[in-house]
Amino acid sequence: MKAVQILGERGNYRLALASSLPKPVTKADQILIKVHAAGITADEVSWVEVYKTPSRIPGHDISGVIEELGPSYDGPLSIGDAVFAMLDADRGQGMAEYAVASASEVARKPKSVSHAEAAALPIPIITAWEALSRHAKLTPRSRVLVTGASGAVGVMATQLAKVLFDAEVVALASEARHEYLRRLPSGVSEVVDYKTPGWETKIGEVDAVFDTVGGEVLSKAWSTVKSNGVIVTVADPPPRWALEKGVVPAELASKPGVRYIYFVLSVDAEALSRVAGFIDEGRVKGLDVIEFPTDQALDAWAYASHRGRLGKTVINFC
Ligand SMILES: NC(=O)c1ccc[n+]([C@@H]2O[C@H](COP(=O)([O-])OP(=O)(O)OC[C@H]3O[C@@H](n4cnc5c(N)ncnc54)[C@H](OP(=O)(O)O)[C@@H]3O)[C@@H](O)[C@H]2O)c1
Repeated sequence: MKAVQILGERGNYRLALASSLPKPVTKADQILIKVHAAGITADEVSWVEVYKTPSRIPGHDISGVIEELGPSYDGPLSIGDAVFAMLDADRGQGMAEYAVASASEVARKPKSVSHAEAAALPIPIITAWEALSRHAKLTPRSRVLVTGASGAVGVMATQLAKVLFDAEVVALASEARHEYLRRLPSGVSEVVDYKTPGWETKIGEVDAVFDTVGGEVLSKAWSTVKSNGVIVTVADPPPRWALEKGVVPAELASKPGVRYIYFVLSVDAEALSRVAGFIDEGRVKGLDVIEFPTDQALDAWAYASHRGRLGKTVINFC
């Protein structure tokens, strides 16, 4: 089968498009998916996990059709079902014509979007869902600031905060993306441009911050959160307090009651399934995608690595 491979070492890697790799086989309750499209996570070249896989195939976000079910699979899905999935960070290997998923990773794909559009969704959906529900623990009508609101995770978070919690959402994004955010079916309460000096003083108090940018933006966002509020970040690179034991955010000195959390997402087919429903009902908009054919996979990767691209980059495998 054809697949993208990351060869060499971390920091000195090269990408290749292989054309004759073995098709993976299912074990136990695994699911073999004929991949129609796979979304690119450009940062994956810096993750240790992909260098430990036997195939060196990256890729976690996929959409396709079930080709085979493992011998002990007894779930609700059938051969021929159109599905989308986030493959666990340890396994990946989705950027190929075929991929193996475990039962807990796969959900029926939204019917109203193409495979390419569905392949852009899993990581943004699960990250936003986990941040808002499990970590920020939003309650109905919370007021929440989403940074990087025009990015893939931010767009999902902005919408899910409204759909799941009827939250008042303040979206922080460059001015060029404000109209796009205002037109989301869930709407946003307020859009704020992070290039406006002192933006953090114009927002008022929020119950929660969900940060996808980090650095100075995360630091400034502290001044918007209530003294007993919560800050959740997934930004890469993470803040020092997320990586080093005993380090606490400097901002905690003036707001000791704020909870602060950095997390790395976990697979969640239930979140995928629920949001697929919201998309088919028209309550949540999918993400804009830039599609590349398989033979331009390496160009696709280069495109996906650039800031300012106009959507999530996806490779079509058929
Ligand atoms: N820990 C986890 O589990 C996890 C999971 C998923 C993603 N992530 C991380 O989360 C981050 C966001 O992912 P994504 O897929 O949403 O990325 P993305 O689609 O590239 O979006 C990032 C957004 O951040 C904004 N941005 C970038 N630099 C900025 C700056 N200096 N100031 C203000 N805004 C800035 C951009 O907004 P404008 O276009 O408006 O400028 C962009 O839309 C990445 O770092 C990713 O690695 C972590």
